[in-house]
Amino acid sequence: MPVTERLGAVDDRTAGEARELWDRAHAADEVAAVSEAFALAVGRHREGVVHVLRRDDAGQLVGYAQVASVGTPDAVAELVVDPAARRQGHGRALLDAVVEEGARSVWAHGDLPPARAFATAAGLERTRSLHLMTRPLGADDARDPALPAGYSVRAFEPGRDDEDWVRLNAAAFASHPEQGRLTVADLRERMDQPWFDPAGFLLVERDGRVVAFHWTKVEKGEARHGNGTGEVYVVGVDPDEQGRGLGGPLTALGLAHLARRGLTEVHLYVDGDNTAARRTYERLGFADLAVDAQYSVPHA
Ligand SMILES: CC(C)(COP(=O)(O)OP(=O)(O)OC[C@H]1O[C@@H](n2cnc3c(N)ncnc32)[C@H](O)[C@@H]1OP(=O)(O)O)[C@@H](O)C(=O)NCCC(=O)NCCS
Repeated sequence: MPVTERLGAVDDRTAGEARELWDRAHAADEVAAVSEAFALAVGRHREGVVHVLRRDDAGQLVGYAQVASVGTPDAVAELVVDPAARRQGHGRALLDAVVEEGARSVWAHGDLPPARAFATAAGLERTRSLHLMTRPLGADDARDPALPAGYSVRAFEPGRDDEDWVRLNAAAFASHPEQGRLTVADLRERMDQPWFDPAGFLLVERDGRVVAFHWTKVEKGEARHGNGTGEVYVVGVDPDEQGRGLGGPLTALGLAHLARRGLTEVHLYVDGDNTAARRTYERLGFADLAVDAQYSVPHA
């Protein structure tokens, strides 16, 4: 009998097995089943995170799920079944386990037909979408745009800007379930990643106060061969400063940084219902490449 195991932490060996499973699913589905925040949480105990492992009769890991924000109304899961073990009920077993842990919704990266069919069969409803938008970068992008009068730009300084940035991010993303909750510890965890580069984390100031930011991300190795991809990682504007035309130039500032690093493409993720942001990105030439969907347990 296959078994389903719930854990508050996973050891290195199990984490390795889980990563190999995601890699096989990534190759088969041509999209990563697990997002960055979930991948980072695989390992030692972390508040609000539960791992669910599904093993077959031989003890082989055939499925992995994770619930984040356990114990809150935003509890959300990601789940993936090994491509060689699909249509055997493992997905459904993982889904039942994450719902039992309190998850109200599940992400489907790429919103692929099997995920859609699976979610429909389980009686889930599509409640949110996340768009992956992309655009090429060229020499014309390399020059910094002019900011509206009174605003200036500088790079993030680790240690000096941490608390201010967390406050600004929370204000800018007050209605965003994941981004708005980032803590100083979450920020520092990202600062410890090999890709972190304060020169690509741009802060916009007015009257000596940081009021907006554009954090870009370039994975190691991307910039080396002259045809890599960079990311608009997070863009945020203080609610008091929104609606003053900062969004476009703020985005373009990050694109200029990425173009100067020799990257030839840029992508970003944006919520399907964030019309203001989607408009800003479309105006700057971004177009949809893929869509992630969130499926939720209907309210009783
Ligand atoms: C979606 C996913 C988790 C399904 O896992 P699975 O173990 O194959 O799913 P199950 O065997 O439990 O399927 C349960 C039911 O879902 C439906 N279903 C699942 N995959 C399907 C497919 N490819 N086509 C049509 N229906 C499908 C069926 O009704 C199935 O019951 P049945 O096999 O008795 O007909 C798996 O394809 C996967 O890992 N995809 C990549 C990650 C992902 O998208 N996760 C998000 C899920 S919302």
